[in-house]
Amino acid sequence: MHKKAAVTGGKPVFEKPLPFASPTLPSFDDVKDDIRNIFESGRVTKGQYLKEYEDAVSEYLGVPALGVSSGTSGLYMLLKALELKGEVIVPSFSFMATFHALEHNGLTPVFVDCDRDTFTIDPREAEKAITTETSAIMGVNIFGNPPDIDALETIAQQNNLRFIIDSAHSFGTLYRGKPMGTYGDGEVFSTSVTKLVATGEGGIVTTKHREVYDFVRMFREYGNSGDYDCEVPGINGRLSELHALIGLKTIPRLPELARKRNRIAEIYKNNLKNIPGINFQKIRENCTSSYKDFAVLIDRERFGLNRNQVSAALEAEGVYTKKYFDPPGHRLKYYREKYADRIKPLPNTEYIAENILNLPIYSHMTEKQAEKVTEAIARIYECRDEIINLEVTMIK
Ligand SMILES: Cc1ncc(COP(=O)(O)O)c(C=O)c1O
Repeated sequence: MHKKAAVTGGKPVFEKPLPFASPTLPSFDDVKDDIRNIFESGRVTKGQYLKEYEDAVSEYLGVPALGVSSGTSGLYMLLKALELKGEVIVPSFSFMATFHALEHNGLTPVFVDCDRDTFTIDPREAEKAITTETSAIMGVNIFGNPPDIDALETIAQQNNLRFIIDSAHSFGTLYRGKPMGTYGDGEVFSTSVTKLVATGEGGIVTTKHREVYDFVRMFREYGNSGDYDCEVPGINGRLSELHALIGLKTIPRLPELARKRNRIAEIYKNNLKNIPGINFQKIRENCTSSYKDFAVLIDRERFGLNRNQVSAALEAEGVYTKKYFDPPGHRLKYYREKYADRIKPLPNTEYIAENILNLPIYSHMTEKQAEKVTEAIARIYECRDEIINLEVTMIK
């Protein structure tokens, strides 16, 4: 006789709910002298810590890096710097900020399908979507899994297009042994609270082009290059000293944080692989994911419950989950209405969005916690027949 699932009246696997994400911050002891320095000097922005942070990131990656106020503002400024026009090819399976950055630049997002295994943009679909209006292809790292950079770069070069990468999830990812941040015409990391480097809010723009670097640097400062006589209407896209300090103290730990998340992912995969109807995101060959997120696809036929039912049953067990990115870009209200006449069905994107479930993961999550999450999923699977009859889980 199996144990009862919490949703059917059993005892929850987690008495105290497990958060979905949690930032791994430097210890207070590690930052207290610097915080005192910031407070006593009154230099809370535009000071030494941003410079040191940018230098540390740049040294780690081997390309120039700029600290900015968020991943979204970084994408906005990078696109602006590249002076793009017309259409930009983008995977619909991404977070809304990817598309907003295009919209705010007056660019038309051309949504294309993703690969069913890696969840990243399908290069063949990207190539098919090229028109005379296309100015760039935007790849996106999905949950830390990089897109097929080699294929996308070749397509961009052959068609005289710019190639940009939304690497919001991939500070800590290695593409063929080399860190993300070093590819294409430019990349943008996010360092918001769910990321490996979690500065609270923040982003990093990286580019090998000197003129792009100079533009973003000037643009994040209202477009003021120093003489107050601005040439472009920039924004305040700066990162404060306190945010930069957290980043500076986290950078040396980045490989270790990625390793820890990879260990959690390994436990999830090992313990869940024999449960029918659970499929994993395939990490690209010769790459190491940052595992900003860990995702499974729930096959309703084989598991016996759909994704929403599993999510509700997990919540009762004290396990919070997410459904990233449902709805995907081409189904978000703003985009589906604005581009109604050009949006086509994207079968892989739609399948993944409808069946995806992101499990909790963070760098200081314990192996025991990961084991217990898998225990909760196994219990839900065993109790699937009882659960399916519950009204509470029938939410669509
Ligand atoms: C794929 C993607 N792009 C861009 C962003 C925006 O980053 P931020 O929240 O730092 O603005 C996010 C946010 O996590 C994201 O998931």
